[in-house]
Amino acid sequence: MKKIIVTSALPYANGSIHLGHLVEYLQTDIWVRNQKMSGNNCIYICADDAHGTPIMLKAQELKITPEKLIEKIYKEHVNDFSDFQIEFDNYYTTHSDENKFFSELIYSKLYQNGDIISKTISQFYDAEANMFLPDRYVRGDCPKCGAKDQYGDSCEECGASYSSSEIKNPISTITQSIPITKKSEHQFFKLRSYEKFLKKWVSDKTLQKEIRNKLDEWLSEGLSDWDITRDAPYFGFEIPNTKDKYFYVWLDAPIGYIASYKNYCDKNNKEFDEDWSENSDTELYHFIGKDIAYFHALFWPAMLEGSGFKKPNAIFCHGFLTIDGEKMSKSRGTFFNARTYLNHLKPEYLRYYFASRLNNKIEDIDLSFDDFCSRVNSDLIGKIVNIGSRCAKFINTDFENKLSDKIKNQKLIDKTLGSLDQIVSNYESRNYATNIRLITSLADDINKYLDDEKPWIKIKNNDEKDSVQDICTDGLNLFRILIGYLKPILPELSSKVEDILQCATIRWDNINTLLLSNEIKKFVPIITRIDKEWIENMKKENEDNSDV
Ligand code: MSP
Ligand code: ZN
Repeated sequence: MKKIIVTSALPYANGSIHLGHLVEYLQTDIWVRNQKMSGNNCIYICADDAHGTPIMLKAQELKITPEKLIEKIYKEHVNDFSDFQIEFDNYYTTHSDENKFFSELIYSKLYQNGDIISKTISQFYDAEANMFLPDRYVRGDCPKCGAKDQYGDSCEECGASYSSSEIKNPISTITQSIPITKKSEHQFFKLRSYEKFLKKWVSDKTLQKEIRNKLDEWLSEGLSDWDITRDAPYFGFEIPNTKDKYFYVWLDAPIGYIASYKNYCDKNNKEFDEDWSENSDTELYHFIGKDIAYFHALFWPAMLEGSGFKKPNAIFCHGFLTIDGEKMSKSRGTFFNARTYLNHLKPEYLRYYFASRLNNKIEDIDLSFDDFCSRVNSDLIGKIVNIGSRCAKFINTDFENKLSDKIKNQKLIDKTLGSLDQIVSNYESRNYATNIRLITSLADDINKYLDDEKPWIKIKNNDEKDSVQDICTDGLNLFRILIGYLKPILPELSSKVEDILQCATIRWDNINTLLLSNEIKKFVPIITRIDKEWIENMKKENEDNSDV
């Protein structure tokens, strides 16, 4: 049995969970469930990322304290995740005592190593709001092409990136006033002290090709010092022995993984120290989106190395969600919150659909609503679930719910069970789409067997009637295996089937148990086909909301 800690990136506590986020949380949840079905001690850790300027400003806008805001969002996030059947072993917040403790600890270790240096920097300052302005709150004319109303760090017209001090005619987006420049002393993490370590780290790890290339590029460009300070007002942790200086949210955010794990250990009476020690046998994996690879693959391992903690065994990076081929966009009405989806559609549909599109590459994945309907309706329901309902019908009505005492088509059972190792290893390597293809093709073979045997004709013929019980017993055993294969993707649907078939909770080590002479329950519909109108209604709700 392996001990494994798994994390998804911590969502910001200033907004709702949307379908893009769900690519990541569903990808991770499926991976963790597969590990658990293998009998590994796998712990899924996450938290809200509760600090930073956007959260502070959002609370101001709502005229509540940031604490109130993050509490409200926390509840919303927890409900959204739970309704999507995403099962964390611990879901915490970065605004916690544990996180403050570990942030100060790691910072002080880095400080003692001489990895923290001070520099005075000049930054835009909004004198009306009395605050320094992060780049995203400054807009102005691009210094390269002159395009108006561009961000403080990059131009959408010509693609240039620049430092905010270069922008022409800057305006603060907070008060619309013209910012002044002001000096402030900031502390920096000397990332370049870890260059040698990072080069070795990158070459030792099994990283995805795209990430490795990106890291090689960053490492060859040379590493710059990382500004870990933000001036007050800021919502975060104060830097020890300073005044009005806070840790930049990205310093304490990944430390939130450790803090959430510590909170999990305390709640469950588990030992913490061993798992995060430098030479721990516990495996650690981070699931992240491609936009935050720099933080996880450079800053984070360097911070862990510098403070004597365990480094991740791997980082699993995924691409971004597009909707019908385009970036999600509020103005085009294609930015769907998790809750808006749930108001109209079942979580199983999206879990199945994303699984059918996910592999271990960093390519973007597309949600095409036509494809979504056809995969769920034709494959999941039409091919897979249909095997169960076709066969259970006869067992329920003609054989008093009782399965036969023998298997007729052992060859097909063996063939179906023969895919187990492949299924488990595809889950482990995050090639979920391959599993969906494999499971659907096994379903095709099973449907062909049932079509050839024609139980609906045999049931009418007294000589052949008894064989229908055997055929349908084959069918339901095969159905159970397929549903077991899908269990990491469709956990609740699988539990319903376990209940109907009156069988034990399926795991990889008991999936080959056959159900013979059992009584089953009456087959009730376990999932309904998607009605296209539901999708239209969801889109409609989104349009209605975007007007306000
Ligand atoms: N708070 C940081 C992560 C800190 S981890 C120590 C953050 N939060 S986020 O809410 O913006 O994103 C959370 C995760 O969701 C990230 O891994 C991000 O890549 C992922 N996604 C956000 N939008 C996404 C899509 N549209 N598509 C796929 N994944 C997306 O980043
Ligand atoms: Zn430009």
